[in-house]
Amino acid sequence: MSHKTRFVAMIAAAALTLPLAACSTTPAPGGGGGDALKDCNVGITMPTRSLERWINDGAQLQKALQDAKCTVDLQYADNKVDQQISQIQNQIAGGAKILVIASIDGTALGPVLEEAAKQQVKVIAYDRLINGSPNVDYYATFDNYKVGQLQGNFLKDQLKLDSASSPINLEPFAGSPDDNNAKFFFSGAWDVLLPYVEKGTLTVPSGKAPKSDADWATIGIQGWDSAKAQAEMDNRLSSFYTGGKKVQAVLSPNDSLAIGIVASLKSAGYKPGADYPLITGQDGDKANVKAILAGEQSMTVWKDTRKLGERVFTMIKQITSGQTVEVNDTKTYNNGVKVVPSYLIEPEVVTKDLVQSKLIDSGFLKASDVGL
Ligand code: BGC
Repeated sequence: MSHKTRFVAMIAAAALTLPLAACSTTPAPGGGGGDALKDCNVGITMPTRSLERWINDGAQLQKALQDAKCTVDLQYADNKVDQQISQIQNQIAGGAKILVIASIDGTALGPVLEEAAKQQVKVIAYDRLINGSPNVDYYATFDNYKVGQLQGNFLKDQLKLDSASSPINLEPFAGSPDDNNAKFFFSGAWDVLLPYVEKGTLTVPSGKAPKSDADWATIGIQGWDSAKAQAEMDNRLSSFYTGGKKVQAVLSPNDSLAIGIVASLKSAGYKPGADYPLITGQDGDKANVKAILAGEQSMTVWKDTRKLGERVFTMIKQITSGQTVEVNDTKTYNNGVKVVPSYLIEPEVVTKDLVQSKLIDSGFLKASDVGL
């Protein structure tokens, strides 16, 4: 049975109850194919409920674990670092044996993870790497550099940068400076686009064009906040797009920033059609898929969070049964102290013509969610 089928089957077996099995994993009854995991006590901490993806991420993993008879505590921290730290402390004190953490500030968890290590708690960094600590056992994520490459290559192809004759106006954005992922997203995209900026095929009228990948945080939007992205785009448009100058492409690293950028463009009078810029995104949030269908956003990099939940479930299953935890990358994610063994999942581009086949037919979104 494929991982995916098994994950779905576990969800289908939700109503069943089963005492903890004596051996490490025991097939759950009812023909669902799910497993009851032994000594499975998991604390999950997610950054915020303000983004659809984290709500789905948390709910999916919680359900799979509950179906496997694990004790699960799921917490959201409203993007507040201290709140997330005290949630993790409570989970350790409450007997969690495995922590799954999607960090807010990837550098702020060293002391609490030291405590986890003393209690022999295993730590899985979820989606975002935890930096500066030796006490991170595994990392499960999408290929974050590839996310940026997909965005950069999308703009390169759509703008036909290799044959463009006159300079094209681009405005690049980057994600939250405290999120390690944001660096990878930006590098992936900028490695494609910077050579065209250097050649003059792309120009950045606001001047907010990092000279190298390393300078990405100078254009980072704290907290991935839509309103902050909107205010930044308002400033760029009102200061640098005067006298009929039009922005032709916006590198937005994710959907929450794209929401703010689109709102700003609308208030500056841009309407979908010939003079409307290309805008990238990431996540496949409902509001953004609607924007894609309406021609207000050009693409999103879709990360099927069900696959990430399924992978983390597999890691937990392997940990609780004493098996080797499967990883597929042992080079890329150095957290400053060690290279964290990682499992990377492939992201995919979704444009208007792919919404039905990728997002709806796979059950990721309902047609009615996006007005289809
Ligand atoms: C995630 C993105 C998300 C962003 C904002 C990143 O770490 O990988 O999927 O859009 O955080 O929450």
